[in-house]
Amino acid sequence: MPKKWDKKCRSRKLKIMEDGEHAKSERHPSHLRGKEIGMFYARRAFLRRQQEKEAGIVRPERVIGEITLPASKIEELEKLLRSTLIYVDESNPAFKRKFDLLVNGRIEDHVNIRTFEQNALLDEKLKEEYDLRQTTPEYQSMLEKRKTLPTYQLKKDIINAVESNQIVVISGETGCGKTTQVAQFVLDDHVEQGKGSICHIVCTQPRRISAISIAERVAVERAEKLGEGVGYQIRLEKVLPRERGSIVYCTVGVVLRQMESDPYLSQVSHLILDEIHERDVKSDLLITLFKQILTKRPDLKLILMSATLNAEKFSAYYNNCPHLNIPGFTYPVQEFYLEDVLQRTGFTFKGFKSKHSKRRSKDEEFYSGFMEPYIRQLQANKTCSVEVCEMLRNPQLEEEVNLDLIFALLVDICETEQDKGAILVFLTGFMEISNLNRMMEYSGKFPRSEFLIIPLHSQMPTVNQKHVFERPPRGVRKIVLSTNIAETSVTIDDVVFVIDCGKIKMTDYDAEVDTYTLKPQWVALANANQRKGRAGRVQPGICFHLFSRPRNLVLEQYQKPEILRTRLENTILSIKVLQLGKCFEFLSGLMDPPPEDSILMAVSLLKRLNALDDDESLTSLGYHLAKLPIAPQMGKMVLFGAMFSCLDPILSVAASLDFKDAFMIPLGKENQVDQMRRELSSGWMSDHLLLYNALHQFEKRNGFNARQFCSKYFLSMSTLQQLQKMKVQFMEYLFETDFVDTKNHKDKKFNLNSNNVILVKAIICAGLYPNVGTISGKRRKFPRTMAGYRVNWHPKSVLSKELHFPSPLFVYYLKLKSTSNFVHDATIVHPLPLVFFGDKYEYDSTNSLIGLADKQLCFKCSQKTNTIIKEIRDKLNWFLEYKVSNPGVVDWTSSKEEITVLRAVMELITNEELGSTSFTDFDDNCQIH
Ligand code: CDP
Ligand code: MG
Repeated sequence: MPKKWDKKCRSRKLKIMEDGEHAKSERHPSHLRGKEIGMFYARRAFLRRQQEKEAGIVRPERVIGEITLPASKIEELEKLLRSTLIYVDESNPAFKRKFDLLVNGRIEDHVNIRTFEQNALLDEKLKEEYDLRQTTPEYQSMLEKRKTLPTYQLKKDIINAVESNQIVVISGETGCGKTTQVAQFVLDDHVEQGKGSICHIVCTQPRRISAISIAERVAVERAEKLGEGVGYQIRLEKVLPRERGSIVYCTVGVVLRQMESDPYLSQVSHLILDEIHERDVKSDLLITLFKQILTKRPDLKLILMSATLNAEKFSAYYNNCPHLNIPGFTYPVQEFYLEDVLQRTGFTFKGFKSKHSKRRSKDEEFYSGFMEPYIRQLQANKTCSVEVCEMLRNPQLEEEVNLDLIFALLVDICETEQDKGAILVFLTGFMEISNLNRMMEYSGKFPRSEFLIIPLHSQMPTVNQKHVFERPPRGVRKIVLSTNIAETSVTIDDVVFVIDCGKIKMTDYDAEVDTYTLKPQWVALANANQRKGRAGRVQPGICFHLFSRPRNLVLEQYQKPEILRTRLENTILSIKVLQLGKCFEFLSGLMDPPPEDSILMAVSLLKRLNALDDDESLTSLGYHLAKLPIAPQMGKMVLFGAMFSCLDPILSVAASLDFKDAFMIPLGKENQVDQMRRELSSGWMSDHLLLYNALHQFEKRNGFNARQFCSKYFLSMSTLQQLQKMKVQFMEYLFETDFVDTKNHKDKKFNLNSNNVILVKAIICAGLYPNVGTISGKRRKFPRTMAGYRVNWHPKSVLSKELHFPSPLFVYYLKLKSTSNFVHDATIVHPLPLVFFGDKYEYDSTNSLIGLADKQLCFKCSQKTNTIIKEIRDKLNWFLEYKVSNPGVVDWTSSKEEITVLRAVMELITNEELGSTSFTDFDDNCQIH
């Protein structure tokens, strides 16, 4: 373990010990503020758990229930176990070889790197085609347009820089032509010089949709069909061009996947990493990885492209490699700030009685150091009225997004700046868009005959609709209410006015309490600039920022990179499968290394999932989880689904959890959507089965019926189709590795138990473990995580409307702290699935307790029953592990002994929930179904 790490762990331990001295006192010390208070209680709970563990104490609330089996059942199982030895003799040497090679290899071991050989015949052919194309009117007319782009003015410089350097950074404003032009310049230059055959350019895009639309655009510019010299590849979809003399636009994930089998990208001559300013995890990984790759591939060129703001940082990371900046493009945009908006609208802010009325120390500094001198200057110059100055002094004014103010500004713009183009309002989320829309509708000031109001949110159906982009009829003004999706992903050309609320909702990950948070925070300068730029696409525009000028001075330059805001399990698996060694070492070489806590958490989860061993090497299970293009918990679920012959429902659940929920929420229809979700969930007490059922019902229908079904249940057809494609892709992996012998996920052989809802829930539980929670309280109102933190059901979860739960246990995938600590999706489970699939199983014979997860969950159980359960569990686990290391079909129609054990597990789990195995509940006041 690196020294730095060890030291940190020790210092944390010491801190906990010190705070432990407060353990007996009721409340936190009064000097603590904000997050420190939460940390204090978390540490205290941690310490208490440690002490209890050392002393072997089990607190009564950890004992969830009792597991009993009828005497006849015990007898039957004993007999079964006596006759079942479980001995499997088929092994899979092909898998073993691949696995050993991967686990024992290092990226440096790949020495046979094939590089390009020039092909004179192809060179000539490419040149001929190129010359011919240039004579066409289509090409010429597009060329005229291309020549107006700022990037085109620098064509020679770009070609020279790429020619004479291995790495170049190119920066420029959005829309200046980087993505569409740079790759073409390089390719055309090669072709012109008669060496087109040694040019194959790969250009990465952060989003699937941009990879496709850019490739289409470039093909049009080159007057050729997609798939000739230009193509794209994204997960599940591709139109590849010829192998040489061509350009491929693809997502970053595609490149990472290719590198698993060809780490030095031997078939690529130029790699362009585009939009790297977005700092998504995968681009960050590639940027670091290429530091190693380029030394082995001196002929490979790397071009990094970004927006203007942070280009220097990338150049510095690559030993100050050359940096080319393309001068600005958009029309000028005039910027106004909060004080100007207050003055202009005459808006009065009344303040609100706030529980946070005490200024935090950071605010204190800001108000005294920046705001006050500025306000005094405003007063001296008489630029703002006394009232405006007073309002600016109130920190509450900037605390929350003020919809009344935005409304007043909209009215003002529409009254004073008639006939002047569309308005784009940036808000933080669904609720704000919905509320502002309602305010506008009810005010009567925005009649439909004169205004077209379009909400834009990834969950609203408008996102993919054409009228967002189209110009409205004369006399009608378009007002778009959007999240930051309109910053880069969606471009609306006719916008002239932008209202920037100044906030943005970002997910952040807090490893200390293992929770994602989603809260509004100040935009970074990069966002504010991007938002402003949206007003100047077609003519000079105006942008209103709803923060003051002093605030503008203290905004961060950029948002935190994603690697600092996310869980790292997938990243670590990628590192392993790319053979990059110990993850800590690799991750500490990133531009912004993630916090050690997050690395520790992720490694520990992967160990608990049995994906990594104690030495941090991939296990056989880890190998599959890394290869399956899906989060590890879902990958595990899929493998178990195949082995338990309930594959189709599990594939649907895994795909939906990994990609996205197919439900949409049109404005004002929130309640109806809720009702439809409940209808589809069929009382199964499971959001996961709801996701399955939505897809299942869709798959049963086709054509018009499917469309009708989607519209009735508010489902996005394109999302459902994407989920179907993902299922096919997972199936291909299972087929390649021999877990199944068909590519049809509906094949009967792998769905013999798909109708057994209880088993399907148990397999979901096996995948999602250790994301387990308990519901406590007299009326089972209080869900908590296994570690004891209080959570709430997210309103969209079907469990949020339930009053009675048949078991106090649930598993979940996403826990996100926004206005509250919400569990977004959950399935109620019974104890046995946890006992079979949970970790750290132990039996305490003194208290007759089965303990799981360091006794965080305990079940009363007699010695005799435990002996039986433990033995079945051991056999099951042995078999599952064997199967994962020697992939092969588990055939439920055979009478093999292993199937007998699987069947016994299935029956026990099913009977428990159906009630024949009694599960005594300690919470007598609650109704048991
Ligand atoms: O990459 P960058 O933001 O610098 O610009 P680009 O994506 O290369 O776009 C250059 C120009 O091409 C834009 O201003 C658009 O007018 C046009 N374009 C388009 O019409 N359709 C696309 N799918 C992409 C770009
Ligand atoms: Mg671009």
